[in-house]
Amino acid sequence: MAITAFKMYQTTKTNAMLLLRHCQGVTRVGLLKTQRLLNSVATPSVTGCVGSLCARWGSSHGGQESGSYKRSHVPNWRHALAGLLAGTGAVLAYGLHSQAERAATTMVQPIDPPTSMPIFTQDDVTKHRSIEEGVWVTYKGSVYDITEFVSMHPGGDKILLAAGGALEPFWALYAVHSQEHVLEILSEYKVGELSAEDRRKQQTVKSSDPYSTDPVRHPALHVNSLKPFNAEPPAEILSDNYITPSAIFFKRNHLPVPQVDPKAYQLHVEGLPGAEPLVLSLEELKTRFPKHTVTATLQCAGNRRSEMNKVKPVKGLNWGIAAISNATWSGAKLKDVLLAAGYRPELAQQACHVQFEGLDRDATGTTYGASIPLHKAVSDEGDVLLAYEMNGEDLPADHGYPVRVVVPGTVGARNVKWLGKIIVSEEESSSHWQQNDYKGFSPATDWDTVDFKSAPAIQELPIQSAITQPAEGATLDRRAEEVTVKGYAWSGGGREVVRVDVSLDGGQTWKVAQLQGGEKPQPGRAWAWKLWELTAPLPPATQELEIVCKAVDNSYNMQPDTVAPIWNLRGVLSNAWHRVKVTIREDEEE
Ligand code: MTE
Repeated sequence: MAITAFKMYQTTKTNAMLLLRHCQGVTRVGLLKTQRLLNSVATPSVTGCVGSLCARWGSSHGGQESGSYKRSHVPNWRHALAGLLAGTGAVLAYGLHSQAERAATTMVQPIDPPTSMPIFTQDDVTKHRSIEEGVWVTYKGSVYDITEFVSMHPGGDKILLAAGGALEPFWALYAVHSQEHVLEILSEYKVGELSAEDRRKQQTVKSSDPYSTDPVRHPALHVNSLKPFNAEPPAEILSDNYITPSAIFFKRNHLPVPQVDPKAYQLHVEGLPGAEPLVLSLEELKTRFPKHTVTATLQCAGNRRSEMNKVKPVKGLNWGIAAISNATWSGAKLKDVLLAAGYRPELAQQACHVQFEGLDRDATGTTYGASIPLHKAVSDEGDVLLAYEMNGEDLPADHGYPVRVVVPGTVGARNVKWLGKIIVSEEESSSHWQQNDYKGFSPATDWDTVDFKSAPAIQELPIQSAITQPAEGATLDRRAEEVTVKGYAWSGGGREVVRVDVSLDGGQTWKVAQLQGGEKPQPGRAWAWKLWELTAPLPPATQELEIVCKAVDNSYNMQPDTVAPIWNLRGVLSNAWHRVKVTIREDEEE
């Protein structure tokens, strides 16, 4: 017994040192784990039965030594692990930041080398598949008891799908979670090792990659995460085309791209009292309803999140300024389809929302979903489309083939791709993305205090503009004598951009840019962005310029000047004046 305890102590010390070396940011986790293991070592029955080991681990989680740590940090690790396990929205996006691409492309190494912790067989693990029996999972040959996490976190129950088995196949769906800090959190729950025989068996089981059928993408895209695929075009080329070519249109996927057979495709329309659910084939959608074409800009709620990240870290993909693009969309009007399904104006008394469900699913079978207000859906001027074409061609796989909703003027998240179902309802969509994500909060709200129910789901987006050329850090040639500044501007809700102001001196003096392109929109239906341009003389006697832009819409909404006052924990609605610093090269030889 004494030898075993001593061995464990040594292993523990080594683990703790590894953890400490590993990353400063996780020092506390490492120490906490060390403390717990040391406590376990000090307990005479440490090598005793599994039950007592679990009981001790359970009590040490709530015990004195970790109490203060946990009180101040519980929401953080709880959210992170919930994202890790449940794989959804806000929590899913945890800690992506600039590491996202690397995390998505690299395999994560085992958290700990084999230790002298208890050895369990796969059968032992399989017995633990419920809160009552305990929830155990394996990862890279280690065994984790995550019962406490599952019971404490309302969203944690999704992990029950992986209970009693390996996390690897589950994580294959959520590759963004294979990150070191998340693994450190998991290490808190380690209770032992899987037997060598079962490790071998696990290694021979090939995990299937749900992203293997994702389409091939354009190499010019700047990838934010590979699985799921999230990417934006290089900002410099974004404003080269009023209509963004589909291949470089920003792509925002929460899940693998579903494979939809156009011949078998069915669109279900439900929730209309007194009417049978309507089921439409793709052919019927295309032939029974008039085809309308709308030019509309889509913008992700997280566009320009990276600027918020610089103020204080936020959770989510670290989008630059190009999670926005403009396309022509063609399809049936949602209003026409709802009328065919039995919608009557009197219904507006009862139902207030139209929900959409995608055909993309997470590991639990839950589909992506969102909703919009009914009045937007049925308004003649709302122009909501069930689009089957983008830029004159079938929708590309990444953009929702064969059918997506296009809700002009509304945040990207409500433009549901791979549309499977439409439900007219008294309620908003109950989906995670409607209820617990894509909402704005005060800079005072943090992950300990946030109450997602307290804020409305984002629908119309605020006024936005950004500089696409020159790029941040560019060098201008003094001999050119002038600088051309280009960018985009757009406002949500069909509000038209009426002016863009540009400053070359950080906002002290301004010039008005020239708005370009696009037909004059009908009032309240300015769905497309305006590209703009300004050519101005290079100011003398300065080698540095801070170029700034800000737009104004026809309701005289303007962008806030700085990011800090609009900072929010999810980094959404980032629309402060856009600033780009460039230098001027003086050619001294001439
Ligand atoms: N629809 C489904 N079914 N699944 C998704 O992941 N992402 C949403 C929305 N519709 C999403 C979806 C989000 S957050 C955005 S910003 C837009 O699609 C992005 O559309 P795009 O990829 O065509 O640019």
